[in-house]
Amino acid sequence: MLSVLAPFPNASRSFSCSSAVKQSSDLEVEVDPLRARPYAFAMKSVWLKNFGCQMNAYDAARLIGVLQECGYHVVKTPKEAHVIILNTCHIRRKATEKVFSDLGRLRVFKEGPLASKIVVMGCVAQALGEEILRRAPWVDLVVGPQAVHKIPSLLAALPQATGYVFLDGSAAEKFQKSPLPTLTATNVTVFLPIQEGCDNCCTYCVVPHTRGREFSRPVSVIIEEARSLLQQGVKEITLIGQNVNAYRGEEQGHSSCDFGALLFQIANLPGLLRLRYTTSHPQHINDSLLHAHATLPQLMPFVHLPAQSGSDRILKAMHRPYTRAGYLDAIDKLRSVRSDMAFSSDFIVGFPGETEQDFLQTLSLVESVAYAQAYAFKYSSRARTPAASFPDPVPEPVKEERLARLLDALRAQQCAFNQQSLEQVVPVLFEKPGRYEGEIVGRTPYFQPVSVCASQDRIGHRLLVHITKVLPHSLKGVVEEPIGS
Ligand code: 5AD
Ligand code: SF4
Repeated sequence: MLSVLAPFPNASRSFSCSSAVKQSSDLEVEVDPLRARPYAFAMKSVWLKNFGCQMNAYDAARLIGVLQECGYHVVKTPKEAHVIILNTCHIRRKATEKVFSDLGRLRVFKEGPLASKIVVMGCVAQALGEEILRRAPWVDLVVGPQAVHKIPSLLAALPQATGYVFLDGSAAEKFQKSPLPTLTATNVTVFLPIQEGCDNCCTYCVVPHTRGREFSRPVSVIIEEARSLLQQGVKEITLIGQNVNAYRGEEQGHSSCDFGALLFQIANLPGLLRLRYTTSHPQHINDSLLHAHATLPQLMPFVHLPAQSGSDRILKAMHRPYTRAGYLDAIDKLRSVRSDMAFSSDFIVGFPGETEQDFLQTLSLVESVAYAQAYAFKYSSRARTPAASFPDPVPEPVKEERLARLLDALRAQQCAFNQQSLEQVVPVLFEKPGRYEGEIVGRTPYFQPVSVCASQDRIGHRLLVHITKVLPHSLKGVVEEPIGS
């Protein structure tokens, strides 16, 4: 038995048995994705909309792989789809609301000529479960992020019954049971998940409720996946995880391998030009990671290191296990091993109890670090998180005003950082065609997008580019010479 399917209480219980889907009790159904495949969905179409982080993007890519194996083809509009899937994000209230407004718009396709099935997967599915069916009873299937690989079998069961919620599963099983994402010819840069979930329990965050406890994939599996990606022509790998530098994976002959040691193993794989990682936690900037940055030329000198706040009082209330000084120390250590290290960050403004003084501390932290880029969000209260019951909410207009001030400061820093590239010659790894005919786009080591006029066959190559123009969010330049593919 691979899994347990708990039907929504109001849904039909007359779930008919087949060779692939067996009802083992009134409330349990066994599903076998492998046996479901051959007959289930010949020539059906699927449309998927993705929200949220890179982990969601990766889950979506894996799901598409599974569905294609089952005979599905991907279509560009929901109107053409037998199955409509929303892969959802629950991180802030707006992200969740967007799902419900999309569901409202998609309802019409259920009554359309294809009688489309509607599936909600991802973090909203995990966090809200049955509530989704209460608010949008036209949804056929709700599937949590660790059960992605079961979607084909569950879809196979849908002709007989709808309104199912399936939240079981583990990250380990998901990774084992679904095929690797299919690459296209233009996959120069890809995400590779090495870790999922989070044990930190920041008081504002839903991730422990949606992605569960930390899980690190074994070293051998990661290396095998990386090798396969590189053999298919990938040039840059970004290791992803909700808490990526907390990685501790099993390694044959050793009890465990930490993040820095893993970076060494991946960086030296043949064909890899660039290695990145996200999202890292200030608490886990240790000697092993610093050694990797000091030693590995493939490891890019650009780190996304969320600070969230510059005030010790607020960091404590957020349950972030570092102080302002500790964060700045992590930045200094990274700069001491790579003097050209650049940073990005996430900030939350208007956390419960945040005073103007606390906020000024955040602005001054931003001044001290001088970020290459960063994201800032208004605090959004999330059900089941500790902060949802904290007193002293910050009024919405105050949040808005602080967000605007912080974004102004971050924009100015991004402009200043980009301006430093003007008239410099920088290595750019080209990833895809540009927006305009004859252009291609790539990134500098510091993740700045660069467009140049060059032939498409330069995509996948790392070239030296003379930067001639700085735009608000990107750079333009002229190719000088190749520096090896
Ligand atoms: N409200 C606002 N922003 C949040 N983030 C996470 N939870 C919340 C919340 N409840 C932000 C954090 C995190 C980023 C992915 O989203 O800054 O790093
Ligand atoms: Fe959104 Fe967090 Fe889920 Fe990613 S893990 S999709 S950011 S809620």
